[in-house]
Amino acid sequence: MSARTLQLEKIAAPEDLEHVIPVVFSWNYIPRLPPFLVAQDWYFENPIANRSAHDPFSDNCFPIDPKAAGFPYHTGLTCLRHNRHWKAALDYAAELCELVAADKSYNSAKLSRGGNLATIAQRELAAPLGERFVTFAINLFPKADEERMKLIAVGILFVVMFDGGSFLALRVVPDLADVSTPDSWEEAPGEDLKNVQDDFVARMRGEKPSNSSETEGTTPLQTRIDEIVAMCRACDERTGTDAGHDFIERMLEWVMHAQPEPGVFTSPREYLDYRWMDAADWWLAAACKLSIASPVSLTEPVTAKILRLAGDHISIVNDLGSFDKELRSFEAGRTFVIINLVQVLRTSCGLSIDDAKAAAFVLQLLNEQEMLTECERLKTDERMTDEHWHFVDVLLLLCAGNTFYTMTTSRYGGEAARIKK
Ligand code: FPP
Ligand code: MG
Repeated sequence: MSARTLQLEKIAAPEDLEHVIPVVFSWNYIPRLPPFLVAQDWYFENPIANRSAHDPFSDNCFPIDPKAAGFPYHTGLTCLRHNRHWKAALDYAAELCELVAADKSYNSAKLSRGGNLATIAQRELAAPLGERFVTFAINLFPKADEERMKLIAVGILFVVMFDGGSFLALRVVPDLADVSTPDSWEEAPGEDLKNVQDDFVARMRGEKPSNSSETEGTTPLQTRIDEIVAMCRACDERTGTDAGHDFIERMLEWVMHAQPEPGVFTSPREYLDYRWMDAADWWLAAACKLSIASPVSLTEPVTAKILRLAGDHISIVNDLGSFDKELRSFEAGRTFVIINLVQVLRTSCGLSIDDAKAAAFVLQLLNEQEMLTECERLKTDERMTDEHWHFVDVLLLLCAGNTFYTMTTSRYGGEAARIKK
């Protein structure tokens, strides 16, 4: 889409415009929807919005409105926010990439398709600031203060680099732009990589790695990992919460999970249940919690339904946005399976690609309707405290932010989606 069609200056209020990360892609992943399938703008007044107490985390972000700027923002979620600390977070993530690229002990392990962790780190560093996948953090967790935004940004890098599911090599999804370079989060491990993973897991737990040697000492990367763990703990001590603890534990759960074989999914529900773990949803929920130092437990029954709906939304939007890329990789023989709702709808219902995308989008709209109904129901649920409402708020921001990321990243639409000057 050309800059003439888009009115980028309308994406935020004039005073906030200078704080918007450069938006350089506009990817309309469902260009041929039937005209009657339109997301209705979605309003929900969160009860905490009317409380007199000021929410300090709301100062870390400001509203953005991609529809006003002409973007194909395919959701009714209007609650989208933009984080103010993105530059500090991207710089901190870049420092981590530099440390990974330079670390000899972590790079003794070769990834099965060639390269090592340094390859991943260098590829991220080579991308212009606004085109890095760490932008996920900025878009998905807008209420985080600077320190928490930095933690979540490096958390995204860890989740991607130490992706447990891909250790089974079920998926190898290269980027659209460069098929010769290994993808960031779809690699398969050898024994060496397992040692690296063990060192990482032990450090994140604050334990002494079993293979550490007194003589070799600690590398700058390992020192940084230890610092990150200490920052998470300090956040918890200051706030009396366990958000940093959950952030680490849910990350390690992701890193160590063995992905079950996807098999054949006979229904969207069966598929979305499978995808919950595959999309790192527990970690996303924990990062939401850390972003506002929330004391709520992630496994409380009262928020179980809204959390599940948010996870489904993340998966559906990702699957719609990344389907073309994933299909292309599969057809070129670079992946063994397509883990994607559009594909499930194609095969289980015999639909064409466009109809399967439309059907997936209908499921997204139904999901959004159900979220609204659940939010209204929660107003009558006596178990809901202000802290629960703050958590619901960040879950909705997560879903809106993921939709924005999917549309504005280079990852899915590639060069064809670059906004022409
Ligand atoms: C991965 O999808 C991305 C998501 C499901 C969106 C939100 C998740 C994160 C930011 C956590 C990091 C993600 C993972 C799963 C490592 P995908 O596995 O279909 O990859 P894609 O980007 O190629 O679509
Ligand atoms: Mg995908």
